[in-house]
Amino acid sequence: MNLPVLEARGISYAYAPGLWAVRDISFRAAAGGKVALLGANGAGKSTLLLLLSGAEHVCLGEVILNGERADYSRAGQRRWRRSVGLLLQDPEDQLLAPTVEQDVAFGPLQSGVAEEAARGMAREALEAMGIAQLAARPVHELSLGEKKRVALAGLVAQRPAVLLLDEPTSGLDAAGIRSLLQLLDRLASEGTAIVQATHDVDRAYEWADEVCVLFRGGLLAHGQPAQVLSDFDMLEHASLEPPVLLEAALAIGARQPLPRSREAFRQLAMATVRRETP
Ligand SMILES: Nc1ncnc2c1ncn2[C@@H]1O[C@H](COP(=O)(O)OP(=O)(O)O)[C@@H](O)[C@H]1O
Ligand SMILES: [Mg+2]
Repeated sequence: MNLPVLEARGISYAYAPGLWAVRDISFRAAAGGKVALLGANGAGKSTLLLLLSGAEHVCLGEVILNGERADYSRAGQRRWRRSVGLLLQDPEDQLLAPTVEQDVAFGPLQSGVAEEAARGMAREALEAMGIAQLAARPVHELSLGEKKRVALAGLVAQRPAVLLLDEPTSGLDAAGIRSLLQLLDRLASEGTAIVQATHDVDRAYEWADEVCVLFRGGLLAHGQPAQVLSDFDMLEHASLEPPVLLEAALAIGARQPLPRSREAFRQLAMATVRRETP
């Protein structure tokens, strides 16, 4: 496995004394890795992302960034923000400038890039997110899916090593979800470590190469999707439902490797029917 770019060692966080929202979580994100943080509402996904982004100071444990203990000084946090981007669940909380291009150029400008170069970086990020045509549009006119992409472009413009995304697909339609996940796949294939919080077990099963299941702030299970998500008792304990594909595959007697896509499942089901039809 690649050296992790971001690592949490036994981190805990409480919003109020004794009320632990994240408990003793250890976690690694490596270059090009695709991690899904799964958990029911209130499990601690958003809090964990805030801790990993450096926006909140851990109460216990430590965060390691590129092999060094992350520091919470102003200069340290500036470096942290440049390496680790956090996409908030609601893009309204992230988009601040009047037009799309101004918003996406904001991050580079803040890090001291000159205006012309920052505009170039913004245009490049918009291009990469497939929304170059939105550059001059007022942010407030955009659809939710467009706003999420603009907010993502704002992070991508800073070329972070790690992208943390809080329920990036929530509220999007099926086509919007598919194209967003494809964008994330591309960023991962270019070496960005991607950590996505979601309660969508079905998409996580198909998309992630590692899943972490959170329950009441603790890490209940983590590992390869097919292995972790075939533990139906554990999922029930975490108030999550098994991925439909996995449940159906196991019901027809599938063995390793279990199908990760609808197409793989369809082929498996056809082969099973053929075998069992005299
Ligand atoms: N700003 C806050 N103040 C106090 N408690 C909070 C705050 N945000 C979250 N919590 C609590 O922390 C726990 C984890 O919440 P959160 O990280 O938002 O979970 P998730 O993102 O998995 O839904 C919950 O019990 C929630 O009530
Ligand atoms: Mg949340």
